[in-house]
Amino acid sequence: MTFSRRDFVSSIALGALGTAAGAPASATEALPKQRMQAQAKPIIVSAGNGYEHLEDAYQYLKGGGDTLEAAIKVVRGPEDDPNDDSVGLGGLPNEEGVVELDASCMHGPTRRAGSAGGVRNIRSMAQLAREVMLHSGHVMLVGEGAERFAVARGFKRQDLLTEESRKVWLLWKEAHADWWGPGVADPRWRERLHDRLKSDEGAAYRQRLQAIAQDLGIDPAVREAAIHKVLFPPTGTIHCSTLAANGDMSGCTTTSGLAWKIPGRLGDSPIIGAGCYTDQDVGSAGATGSGEENIRVAGAHTIVENMRRGMTPFDAGMDALKRIVRNYNGEKDRLLYVDMTYYILRKDGAYAGVSLWTGYEPGRPHTIAVHDGTRRLEKTVSLFEGASQEWPPIVAASKVNL
Ligand code: GLY
Repeated sequence: MTFSRRDFVSSIALGALGTAAGAPASATEALPKQRMQAQAKPIIVSAGNGYEHLEDAYQYLKGGGDTLEAAIKVVRGPEDDPNDDSVGLGGLPNEEGVVELDASCMHGPTRRAGSAGGVRNIRSMAQLAREVMLHSGHVMLVGEGAERFAVARGFKRQDLLTEESRKVWLLWKEAHADWWGPGVADPRWRERLHDRLKSDEGAAYRQRLQAIAQDLGIDPAVREAAIHKVLFPPTGTIHCSTLAANGDMSGCTTTSGLAWKIPGRLGDSPIIGAGCYTDQDVGSAGATGSGEENIRVAGAHTIVENMRRGMTPFDAGMDALKRIVRNYNGEKDRLLYVDMTYYILRKDGAYAGVSLWTGYEPGRPHTIAVHDGTRRLEKTVSLFEGASQEWPPIVAASKVNL
């Protein structure tokens, strides 16, 4: 990727996006897509990876089904799919090669919430979050206790590491990447960049990864994708928010979290108010992206509270993104390593998908999947144009030929 500073938009200086001169094309173009509809029919919004699973859930919701059940129907698709390595079965593992999953849910009609984090061997995490909500006096269970609770509730233990994900993990191990040491929020963050650059630079490093991937028997058809996941550890996740015709709303978020994470790391997905928040008096919101950053701004709760104070879904989401930008004093060379997308649904059916960057890589924009009788994928509206990079920077963004 060649990354031009001109691609960036100085959002802090611009103030209100979409109206100020110099606002990103993606923001202004996409504004009309932010629907403002009188709520009379069900609507489901989810991260783009939910698109294939919207139809059943929509029919169920239209037939009077429960809003949380409908949301779980959507996210269960990627959770059960061994080829989706961002959630559930086949999720990319932690640094020890163990898949650890997080999820949370909120049920609007009963105003209840459930969450489970750092759970091993249980694939249906959104359902487990719902079980915690329904069958414990708690809101959040983590680790071994959550796993034992799941088994007691009838969930089957299973090894979640697929052969494909295991090979990508081995590739990462051999690349000596890690999550130890200062993070992007640390004042010493540049040291990480320089250390990496001293040892390896773009093309040569990629060649070495290619050779290791070949030795590991990684299928040539997915070898480039595997290398990409090593260079840019993903935080793939799915969120889904639902609104029934009677005004009921729910939301849930589920993930395998940040690839190659330190065991025990929890992201935003299991944190009620960060990865997911629903108050059906107002709306529902959820997130995918850099969990650490979203926890610091309590993103989903911030967005719902913004809507409570009268902001549109779009403005409410942009405000949360700008809080992340503010946490880095607008330093875009650091924000380059942060990625965040919010999926927002208001009680009247108005919705928005907003993201910090256009996508993870050029040509693959972040998307929001929508079903309100018509199923579709829409590009999110981004605060900055361009692709984010994942932390830690194994090679400088400018040296990685995407
Ligand atoms: N947003 C998912 C995670 O950071 O774990």
